[in-house]
Amino acid sequence: MNRKLARRLPLLGKWVRKLDVLEEKYARLKSQRDSLKRQRGYLKSELAEVRAPLEAIQREKDERRALRHKQESLLPIPPASLRLRVHGTDDEVAFLSVGDTIASRIREIVRAEDQSFDGTERILDFGCGCGRVLRFVENGPLSGKFFATDIDEEAISWCRNNLASLATFSRNGDQPPLEFGRDSFDLILAISVFTHLPEVLELSWLSELQRIAKPGAILLLTVHGEGLFSTVPSGSYDELSRRGFCYAACGQTAGLPDYYQTSFHSPAYIERYWSEFFHVRRIVALGGQDVVVCEKRQAP
Ligand SMILES: C[S@@+](CC[C@H](N)C(=O)[O-])C[C@H]1O[C@@H](n2cnc3c(N)ncnc32)[C@H](O)[C@@H]1O
Repeated sequence: MNRKLARRLPLLGKWVRKLDVLEEKYARLKSQRDSLKRQRGYLKSELAEVRAPLEAIQREKDERRALRHKQESLLPIPPASLRLRVHGTDDEVAFLSVGDTIASRIREIVRAEDQSFDGTERILDFGCGCGRVLRFVENGPLSGKFFATDIDEEAISWCRNNLASLATFSRNGDQPPLEFGRDSFDLILAISVFTHLPEVLELSWLSELQRIAKPGAILLLTVHGEGLFSTVPSGSYDELSRRGFCYAACGQTAGLPDYYQTSFHSPAYIERYWSEFFHVRRIVALGGQDVVVCEKRQAP
């Protein structure tokens, strides 16, 4: 039976009309697909045309960056064991480029937070390690007098011998105090330090940094924040959800004390507990970690 005739039959007609609609729809979709295929082909060729210049720009950027690192590397590069200790891998290029990237983010944050920096400031890098960030940080708004301290005797001794032009280095104990008097610093950095401390030690160090910061000083302290909660070991997740803080065993780091493990902080925890020491201005993402931007309150 042909379709024309079938359309006139009461029962069959309904189905044939439905079939007509579906066929129309199919033809429309087919033509849309063909047109998209043509567009894809066109875009592919356009992309091929821009890819080469984009790759050339990227190559040039990489070369410039490598050259800059080479220039910076006029400063000696720490040995593999010290790089591994602060960086998790001893890869030299990664050590330099991560240090460089963090340092420039730090400068941006300082610039956004306080435009009055004029090079007369006293700046402390607390937990400086072997100077991964410190070697790049002095520039633009950050060109004051630098001090740097760490518990790691070997790293500090390497820094004293090799980066003495950058800062005055000292070794501190696991627990406060530091050797500095109260109200000593305009800016304090602690990059990837409060990411590793148990809670009680963290609170003692926050209190010590509060003591040595000048009223109005800025502190940039990094933590493992919400962006890294997916990496919390499963055994610690309950504590983190309950308290907004957890301190998880991640194994021993050769050359560092047993307490050096991994901690995670929620913004609510920071707001609640760190506000006892500082005014928490904001929390800014810094690649994987977050920077907690704190300010020492003015004396009442
Ligand atoms: C991941 S490394 C970061 C080093 C450096 N800030 C950087 O970004 O390259 C952590 C550093 O914190 C230091 N550290 C741990 N506990 C400390 C403490 N109680 N006082 C000072 N530094 C400490 C370690 O020795 C280590 O050098």
